[in-house]
Amino acid sequence: MQQNNHNYLYTFNHDPTERELCQLEARFVFNKVLQGKWLFTDVEVDPSCSAFIKNRLRIISCSDSYDTLIQEIKKENIEVEAFKVEYVVFDGDETPYTERLQKLRDIGYSIEGMHEYYNPDITYGMCYCEGTWYFGELLKNNFDWHKHKQKPYSFSNSISVNIGKALVNIAVNNTKESTLLDACCGVGTIMLEACFAGNHIEGCDINEKTAKNAKENLAHFNYNATIYHSDVKDLKHRYDSAIIDLPYNLFTSATDSDIEHIITATATLTDRLVIVSISDITDLINNIGFRIADYCSVSKRGKTNFARKIWVCEKRK
Ligand SMILES: C[S@@+](CC[C@H](N)C(=O)[O-])C[C@H]1O[C@@H](n2cnc3c(N)ncnc32)[C@H](O)[C@@H]1O
Repeated sequence: MQQNNHNYLYTFNHDPTERELCQLEARFVFNKVLQGKWLFTDVEVDPSCSAFIKNRLRIISCSDSYDTLIQEIKKENIEVEAFKVEYVVFDGDETPYTERLQKLRDIGYSIEGMHEYYNPDITYGMCYCEGTWYFGELLKNNFDWHKHKQKPYSFSNSISVNIGKALVNIAVNNTKESTLLDACCGVGTIMLEACFAGNHIEGCDINEKTAKNAKENLAHFNYNATIYHSDVKDLKHRYDSAIIDLPYNLFTSATDSDIEHIITATATLTDRLVIVSISDITDLINNIGFRIADYCSVSKRGKTNFARKIWVCEKRK
């Protein structure tokens, strides 16, 4: 059982094929191991920066007893113009629907203000998790980032938006000011997610048309980020982290030496790499003086023989 003396309770959801990715992301965002589908922490992040975080509850009151919870909420003397309360159902919470509605009413009567379903100033949440009742301010993933799926230019084999968001979070490593490089940016799937989350990212692609398409994709959503049409070896700046979604033979003709070239060149620009590959690149990582700090594998839904490997690498001191 997790401790509940934390400020936030986050809930997660993921497809079975992305469980490892969700857990890898959580290790970097929260510096904690995600065992089930929720996590207590003091780390504050916007759920919309992740494809896997569903809700964030900023805990205001909690109690093992429901009656005590209501008393605690009343003691808070909450006054809001327009509010809404939602019941978040956790695994193991068998409270029947009608009782849940009654509990929402109880909370509504404990707050001073008008209930406003469509346009609340604030949304509160309540839930029952492992024997304790919680009440707090609820922030939900707004899924606005789904709009990126309709970007003007795509690759048939681009990584998914979910992977793109996780790569950004892993690269950012909970340091909002991090400078990131997408070393092989393609049409900008990863860059769109970094820009959406407000991170500082630059991109690079050796292919002129692809780099142009990435620029147009960013402009389409009014994001501003530099994209270099260049071989990554010719970049000059240094970055806190670099993401490399390596080309693979499925739709580009990348040889082993191309892969080695990209990784070696990018490693001169940063001390931290987050690499996506379809083959084992352990030896390559060792040979460039980096160590594997973390790893996961993501298979493609419905394709058991295709898996992407994600390597988080740090320069050996
Ligand atoms: C797998 S794709 C990246 C896809 C990208 N993540 C997306 O979602 O669109 C790999 C990209 O690496 C680029 N590339 C290959 N060699 C490169 C190099 N030396 N420097 C920079 N980009 C390179 C290719 O042009 C290709 O667009």
